Amino acid sequence: MQTITNAGSAQETRDLGKKFAGSLKPGDVIALFGQLGSGKTTFIQGLSKGLGIDNFVTSPSFVIINEYPLNNRGQKTSFFHIDLYRMDSAGEIEDLGMTDLFNDRSIVAIEWADKAGMLLPENCKKIHFNFVSENEREVVFS
Ligand SMILES: Nc1ncnc2c1ncn2[C@@H]1O[C@H](COP(=O)(O)OP(=O)(O)OP(=O)(O)O)[C@@H](O)[C@H]1O
Ligand SMILES: [Mg+2]
Repeated sequence: MQTITNAGSAQETRDLGKKFAGSLKPGDVIALFGQLGSGKTTFIQGLSKGLGIDNFVTSPSFVIINEYPLNNRGQKTSFFHIDLYRMDSAGEIEDLGMTDLFNDRSIVAIEWADKAGMLLPENCKKIHFNFVSENEREVVFS
């Protein structure tokens, strides 16, 4: 099933992410697609807030994987924010060990998920971000 939503501002995209966080559980992998500046990080910023994270880093610069511990009723779980923008080859991405994070102790959000190709779990939650105008984005959940 596909849900198409319009976000008229960065704040609306953050709000969508925050709301989406309510549907997540450990083991979930979220794959985010869309061009530079389309709103992937903005959405994840809201999502992290929805997960109770208050120290989210919007621009990890050269950090590829950021881990944030989650409070999950005594269980040790984490939210991982992965940005594959700087990755050039499938081999490089395999070497990250990203797939080791796909387990029931983690929620993983991946920007530039198209670069991960076959490494993405089949049942991941896919979100596409499309430009409508300067301040408007189409967000497609599938
Ligand atoms: N409706 C909107 N939703 C999200 N961002 C918006 C919107 N309108 C304007 N913006 C602006 O667009 C930019 C989106 O940047 P963001 O870092 O979220 O994109 P990104 O998809 O993560 O890009 P990158 O591929 O470089 O990581 C921000 O500067 C934000 O303020
Ligand atoms: Mg980004």
